[in-house]
Amino acid sequence: MKSIASAPGKVILFGEHFVVHGLKAILCSIDKRIKVTTEVIDDDKIIIISNMGRIQIDLKNQNQETKSAFKPFLHIAKKMMKEFNHKKGLQITIESNIPSGVGLGSSSACCVAAAASISGLFTKLSREKILELAIEAERTVFKNVSGADTTICTYGGIIEYDRESGFKKLDLNSNLNLVIANSMQTHSTNKVVSKVQKFKEENSELFLKLCKKESELIKNVHRALSDNDYELLGKSMLENQNLLETIGVSNEKLGSMIEIANKTSYGSKLTGAGGGGCIISLTDENKIEETIKNLKDMKIDCFSTKIDSKGLDTF
Ligand code: PMV
Repeated sequence: MKSIASAPGKVILFGEHFVVHGLKAILCSIDKRIKVTTEVIDDDKIIIISNMGRIQIDLKNQNQETKSAFKPFLHIAKKMMKEFNHKKGLQITIESNIPSGVGLGSSSACCVAAAASISGLFTKLSREKILELAIEAERTVFKNVSGADTTICTYGGIIEYDRESGFKKLDLNSNLNLVIANSMQTHSTNKVVSKVQKFKEENSELFLKLCKKESELIKNVHRALSDNDYELLGKSMLENQNLLETIGVSNEKLGSMIEIANKTSYGSKLTGAGGGGCIISLTDENKIEETIKNLKDMKIDCFSTKIDSKGLDTF
């Protein structure tokens, strides 16, 4: 018997980092997915196969060290096996077309799809429970995650998220044309989040001011999204980028990519933790090709994307 689930990647449209400190963020899922297949095997083992390699955990050997990238899957697998008294082993296969380590939610999507796929062998959990399990799993690696990424990968579409009240789905008829450009510099979310924490401690007054600006910006974004006001959305992206530069999470490469993309778009900003990773650019439908060409001419890897409305899918 096999249990299969897939979840989309995501971009943070507005509010990364500030969301860790209690503010609101706006995120959407993208049309790139990760698929996880789980099946029962006779051996006393958990086998994980992915493009990062293959690992095999002997369930009789409790002290076996695991590479941190695999910890969330083992957490979910062990929890489910214990809960449902599963005495055999599991094989978990991960197939992804989301670039990893560059802020497009590959690890969150993976945790969501794995939580659904592994639990699906034993029971049918609600999306809410799958999300809980995915956040718990992700926290085995990223201790201070806000939960925003896993939430959007579960529910899809566009959401507003904050740590206290959770998420609100924004039912909008806007279909944003986004170009994503990849700096190919992988980043460590943990490290960049810690850097911002340090910035906050050393510049508490300035940080408060920036938070106020970010909150104002999010209010404008709501208006812009419901009015399909792309000019205002683009302007807000640029303002958000300025705030991210002030807290020190952008860099020269991202800045130059944004400069190129801005020539043919409403606005652009980094997305995700920063310190590398990707930028997003909001363009008109008839400017997508030109934006991509300009970036590719500068040898920058990029693609256009649409919002995924499905979120988590199980088979
Ligand atoms: O780059 P990513 O996909 O890991 O995004 C991190 C987003 C942060 O706001 C920086 C952290 C978080 O937990 O929300």
